[in-house]
Amino acid sequence: MLDQKVAKLINEQINKELYSAYLYLDFSIYYEDLGLDGFANWYNIQAQEERDHAMLMLQYLQNNGVKPVLDTVAKPDKELKDKLEVLKLALEHEQYVTSLINDIYEAALAVKDYRTMQFLDWFVKEQGEEEKTAEDLVKKMELFGGDAKGLYMLNSEMAARTYSAPSLTL
Ligand code: FEO
Repeated sequence: MLDQKVAKLINEQINKELYSAYLYLDFSIYYEDLGLDGFANWYNIQAQEERDHAMLMLQYLQNNGVKPVLDTVAKPDKELKDKLEVLKLALEHEQYVTSLINDIYEAALAVKDYRTMQFLDWFVKEQGEEEKTAEDLVKKMELFGGDAKGLYMLNSEMAARTYSAPSLTL
């Protein structure tokens, strides 16, 4: 059985991951509307990955004798009005998610819940990768996005992203 505080934080994280999926779906819709189908594809896949994260958290609770409780998923509340700013919002959001994962890790450490810490190791690494990718996208857009040809190339690069299931299995 998991520590109550740890279980509560993981349960809340299911909701945050589903919100992330919702947020990135909103980004995908925004870029599709601009005609940037590659960016739309990229965020559509990102949304799928966030749903995967939620499911991993959910299954982890179930595997440890805790019944997950689903809450309302908030409406995406960021105003999307600039293609570079949206990428910066994504970076900020991932930094925020990293802080949430770190909070759960800290709670697990406090009660010597090594199993949860091991489970969270994958998410710690994943967050590092997601922050780096989000940073790279901001940099690329700053460098090349101002010119039509550069934006076209960037869009084509993002169109090439394909979905792959998470490497973590429970
Ligand atoms: Fe599930 Fe992007 O963190």
